Amino acid sequence: MRIAVGSDHRGAAMRSKIVDLLKRLGQDVIDVGAHQQRAVDYPDIAAAVAQRVSKGDVDRGILICGTGLGMSIAANKFPGVRAAPCHDDLTAEVSRRHNDLNVLCLSGDILGERLVDRLVEIWLRTPFEGGRHARRVGKICQMEKRNGKPHSTSVP
Ligand code: RB5
Repeated sequence: MRIAVGSDHRGAAMRSKIVDLLKRLGQDVIDVGAHQQRAVDYPDIAAAVAQRVSKGDVDRGILICGTGLGMSIAANKFPGVRAAPCHDDLTAEVSRRHNDLNVLCLSGDILGERLVDRLVEIWLRTPFEGGRHARRVGKICQMEKRNGKPHSTSVP
């Protein structure tokens, strides 16, 4: 897979370890930085990764900031991007099976190195289940196409 990886200053150490892991796993990695030591604004990095995912230049993205929250909020502004923070085996696996997550967001402040390696590997190897989940993800895509207009449906 072609995977873009980015972080702000709070995720820089974790990013370089993830880049190494992905290369060891034989993935095609684009490291978008941030490459400088100084503090950077996470939305700028989220955009660099999310835009590539949105355009189909890469298959997936991984973003790391202090909490994973800001990155996911920013990345989700790009069409076709489904980004969320994952912090344990369950969220990493179900984010793929049910949500077809294409941008994994991680906390550089909270997660340990061994856990992160495991989460990334789970997230890479877990397929989307499709079926009823495809219908639900399809509804999210429709909301995006309506450009924020209210969704009119009756919840069963
Ligand atoms: C930067 O201080 C911090 O706000 C950022 O890394 C992230 O946690 C935002 O959600």
